[in-house]
Amino acid sequence: MPTFTIGETDFLLDGEPHRILSGAIHYFRVHPDQWAERIHAARLMGLNSIETYVAWNAHEPRRGEWDASGALDLGRFLDLVAAEGMHAIVRPGPYICAEWHNGGLPVWLTGMRDVALRQSDPDYLAEVTRYLDNVYEIVAPRQIGRGGNVVLVQIENEYGAYGNDKEYLAELVRVTRAAGITVPLTTVDQPTPQMLRDGSLPGLHLTGSFGSRSAERLATLREHQPTGPLMCSEFWDGWFDWWGGIHHTTDAAAAASELETLLAAGASVNFYMVHGGTNFGLTNGANDKGRYLPLVTSYDYDAPIDEAGSPTAKFFAFRDVIAKYAPVPDEVPPPVRSAPEVSVALEPYALTLPPALEETFEEPPSFDGLGHLSALVRYETVLPEAGLLAFDEVRDRAWVSVDDRPVGILDRTRGERALVVPAGRLSLLVEEQGRVNYDARLGEPKGIVGVPTLEGQPLRSWIVTPIEVAALASQAATAPVISREESTTSRPAALRGSFHLAESADLFLDAGRWGKGFVFVNGFFLGRYWANGPQRTLYVPAPVTRSGPNTVAVVELEPMVDLTANFVTGPLLGPVEE
Ligand code: GLA
Repeated sequence: MPTFTIGETDFLLDGEPHRILSGAIHYFRVHPDQWAERIHAARLMGLNSIETYVAWNAHEPRRGEWDASGALDLGRFLDLVAAEGMHAIVRPGPYICAEWHNGGLPVWLTGMRDVALRQSDPDYLAEVTRYLDNVYEIVAPRQIGRGGNVVLVQIENEYGAYGNDKEYLAELVRVTRAAGITVPLTTVDQPTPQMLRDGSLPGLHLTGSFGSRSAERLATLREHQPTGPLMCSEFWDGWFDWWGGIHHTTDAAAAASELETLLAAGASVNFYMVHGGTNFGLTNGANDKGRYLPLVTSYDYDAPIDEAGSPTAKFFAFRDVIAKYAPVPDEVPPPVRSAPEVSVALEPYALTLPPALEETFEEPPSFDGLGHLSALVRYETVLPEAGLLAFDEVRDRAWVSVDDRPVGILDRTRGERALVVPAGRLSLLVEEQGRVNYDARLGEPKGIVGVPTLEGQPLRSWIVTPIEVAALASQAATAPVISREESTTSRPAALRGSFHLAESADLFLDAGRWGKGFVFVNGFFLGRYWANGPQRTLYVPAPVTRSGPNTVAVVELEPMVDLTANFVTGPLLGPVEE
């Protein structure tokens, strides 16, 4: 069997020095029918390995209901990497950050009372052990020493940026080894002395995450990892976007020159990302370093292989640099093709909203308390008088109406917590816009926080309705049509349309003249859109489309201005900084 170990100065493949040229592709951000072509494209850039995180909350959204099939078939993904002749690196977290909902931690876990996350808390560790055992059951038989292609496994993720509980890291190592993982184990940290110190343990190979000042970062890493190969486990070659911001891009030549510095120093590298993919459905995370900023649906990341799988200028710039240090295949991926343009008339349909829960609540329960995993909850109560309605916090955005008349919006990003309301029946439609994936607010509950007050008096007695967004979209098939006027007074509203395609194709759905909501093609949940931008088009992977009739369904939270769905020729991810 082949061997993969860490030597005095290098990774050793069968005893010979080996440089890892890896690229991150998150299988959970790519349609499974496109995994093979994305992996292939990454190899054509000159890579010899693919790295992926594992997203616990995707596999086990409800406690004990583990799913590793279909779009979550990690084993199949790793096998496709092997079939391409490439090694694989697995980073199971349990915390992954990754701009992914809750940093990958399941809501049932972060919602448990008194559980200390990412520490050696016995209740937390019991769940983590169960999770890791599930993951390693897939990974262990695919290790290189057992005839597979997995060469490295990472412990935690940038732990030094969060904590310093060495017992916790030691326990993760123990569980990993006990599950039969024999390949070298790594940690990754931003290369500051404190983070490198806090984030690792003796026996784990330290690596860094950075995208600039590479020589300086490698030097810092070397101080903390005196022997063995230098590795940048996250070479940030682009960046992510949040609603209300700009679209981030980085200069291809500058990124290529950073890569050159890394490779000239003999370092191994994992491009973060080689192909970013998409936060389909409700999977986007959020950042909050003082201001809550939910992340957009696209995870294009300005990576060398774009969201639709096409090579960008960066792909060729990186390939040229890699070619100086390693053999690069002659083949190049097919160039960008323009997507079919289709304009689809939408008709509003009558939504049947679910019934309210029978229980009346003294305090508005959180989404977490309700075990509700979708994006919307309606909270209702009676306002005995007009006055100032105030909240501790609304997570994350509430459409407020009284007696069915809209009276305002409270948006967390803008810090809005109060408004003046008339007496009557109060309804708050609250959207959870994405869970924080980094830093101290990781795992915080969603919904209305605390007990709202009217003129300083607590409002008790709440009627609550959890709403499944996907269930609203699926009513499109049978619900009766309604007029535009009827639809503009209901919130949420829903619209549907159908269109014909000559053949299955990647599409780009332009949401630029809609408000804020969720959109589905042929029942596949593309994700969120918002006029707030920067993202304007949503990527529709070809495998969800078909030749012949196709459908689109839209669940809209704001008044919808344009009743058409326009599919355009390519992505519009928003304005970039000049
Ligand atoms: C860190 C994390 C990654 C990701 C990047 C930013 O390096 O480890 O998961 O969040 O930042 O894209």
